[in-house]
Amino acid sequence: MPEAPAATATVRTPAAPGGTYGTHALEVQDITKRFVTTEGVVTAVDHLSLAVAPGEFLSVIGPSGCGKSTLFNIIGGLVGDYEGRVTVAGETISGTHPAIGMVFQEESTFPWRTVLENVAFPLEVKGMPREERFERARRFVSMVGLDGFERRFPSELSGGMRLRVAIARTLASEPKILLMDEPFAALDEQTRLLLGDKVLQIQQALQQTTLLITHNITEAVQLSNRVLVMTYRPGRLKRIVDIDLPHPRDSEVVSSTAFGRYVAEIWHDLREEASLGMREDEELRRGERPSGAAA
Ligand SMILES: Nc1ncnc2c1ncn2[C@@H]1O[C@H](COP(=O)(O)OP(=O)(O)O)[C@@H](O)[C@H]1O
Ligand SMILES: [Mg+2]
Repeated sequence: MPEAPAATATVRTPAAPGGTYGTHALEVQDITKRFVTTEGVVTAVDHLSLAVAPGEFLSVIGPSGCGKSTLFNIIGGLVGDYEGRVTVAGETISGTHPAIGMVFQEESTFPWRTVLENVAFPLEVKGMPREERFERARRFVSMVGLDGFERRFPSELSGGMRLRVAIARTLASEPKILLMDEPFAALDEQTRLLLGDKVLQIQQALQQTTLLITHNITEAVQLSNRVLVMTYRPGRLKRIVDIDLPHPRDSEVVSSTAFGRYVAEIWHDLREEASLGMREDEELRRGERPSGAAA
């Protein structure tokens, strides 16, 4: 397979609101991550560079297995032993960092704790006094629209509500950068759209730098300032698409002509990569070595 040059995405600062001239909220510099498996070495992320402006909403889209979660886990400090650098506001970080908060799926709530206790939990771990942490938890429970549900347990809530608990819990630590790895994957389409609106409202209110992994193109275009398309293994940057749609946006925007054009454009790129992924999956099932793995 021919080696494509590693693409670098730069931000035209101060494009994003709340941005500071010349300072990126987050920078990923030439990250490469290889996993040694019984099948050989898998390059999950390959020479990927990316800069995110303060307050920007960036979505990462790419076929299953292209390295999206690996990239986020590197940024969030959950995966180590990689080449390259991650910087937050110009400072190199390694391991978990208080500026970075992660949201996974709704299943990450603790079933034995109430909504309020779930949201207050990370603050308790940090040693915040009881009254202060519950006050702060209440503020974020309200922000995600769960007033009146503070004393409920996760089992008494819908999937969309549990996800909002997980989001509030991460927000309560007031991270400067929020990483969300396919948070909406388990939800039905309507809930996903409405929750997307909610996430965007919160992001605009807090001016929080947000990165979202999704395989849903509509969601990516609805929420983002930019959409990053990754190649199928090894995960490289294929393209960055600027989403030039007016704010404030809500899910109504999905019916506009401009919106449809963005979706078509991104699907064109994604289709190529997804087809590669499908072909490799078939090769694997026939017992041939996938091209992403080297002996
Ligand atoms: N801990 C690990 N050990 C070995 N291989 C891994 C590990 N984590 C991810 N991979 C491999 O790296 C590639 C990218 O995985 P991942 O980042 O989860 O992709 P995505 O989130 O885009 O679906 C896949 O081939 C996956 O099998
Ligand atoms: Mg993943």
